[in-house]
Amino acid sequence: MNGSSDDTLTLALSKGRILEDTLPVLAAAGIEPEVDPESSRKLVFETNQPGLRLLVIRASDVPTFVSYGAADIGVAGKDVLIEHGGADLYEPLDLGIARCRLMTAGLPGAMDEASHRPLRVATKYVETTRAHFARIGRQVEIVKLYGSMELAPLVGLADVIVDLVDTGNTLRANGLEPFEVIEDISARLVVNKAAQKMKHAAIEELVELFGRGASSEAA
Ligand code: ATP
Ligand code: PRP
Repeated sequence: MNGSSDDTLTLALSKGRILEDTLPVLAAAGIEPEVDPESSRKLVFETNQPGLRLLVIRASDVPTFVSYGAADIGVAGKDVLIEHGGADLYEPLDLGIARCRLMTAGLPGAMDEASHRPLRVATKYVETTRAHFARIGRQVEIVKLYGSMELAPLVGLADVIVDLVDTGNTLRANGLEPFEVIEDISARLVVNKAAQKMKHAAIEELVELFGRGASSEAA
């Protein structure tokens, strides 16, 4: 399956926080959507670059659209890519935006209190969490949640959480402590492997534009 013909490129953008940080990078790269994706209900946007269109989708869906070829290229958080597996995608560029850390956290002392039984961990990052605790040799029971992970230790649903931490404000506001960094996170460009071959020149050009946009934003 392929979402766009040989002379067009489809770029999938993550909605929400990443979109906020991506739009200035696009602008610095000279790419302008036909209308503002943050205020429009549209899902597909033409741009001022002939043959380049944008999809604006849920952050966790970007790897799926790109790996099936429904989009040639995408912007996705490293957290989402690790959870997806990512082996079927190229990852040519770290955009350095939407930076945060994937961490374990909980009420003070939570890791020690549960030393005699499997640790109960609430997260939406089930695969990443399983791999992390297997690596450190700790038995866990994972409770899958879709948001507000910080609530779980407060109401006895879990001993600890695995979630994103940036300023630490959400943890502090809920009396939780950060424990261990699992991964440093930022948004990455990802490319469909078939598109990388079939649309090599157009993709290289877009990756370079993004590289310039990201470094002029960082400056
Ligand atoms: P979905 O709708 O797919 O469940 P979501 O509701 O978690 O996603 P956001 O909260 O906008 O959507 O997060 C999207 C991405 O933004 C995350 O995958 C991560 O890469 C990044 N991100 C999330 N929280 C932060 C944060 N506090 N600081 C910096 N980046 C963040
Ligand atoms: C993310 C994450 C944390 C928070 C961390 O949630 O899940 O809750 O940001 O950021 P901080 O350390 O700066 O407080 P988000 O605000 O995106 O809400 P969500 O639960 O809807 O994803």
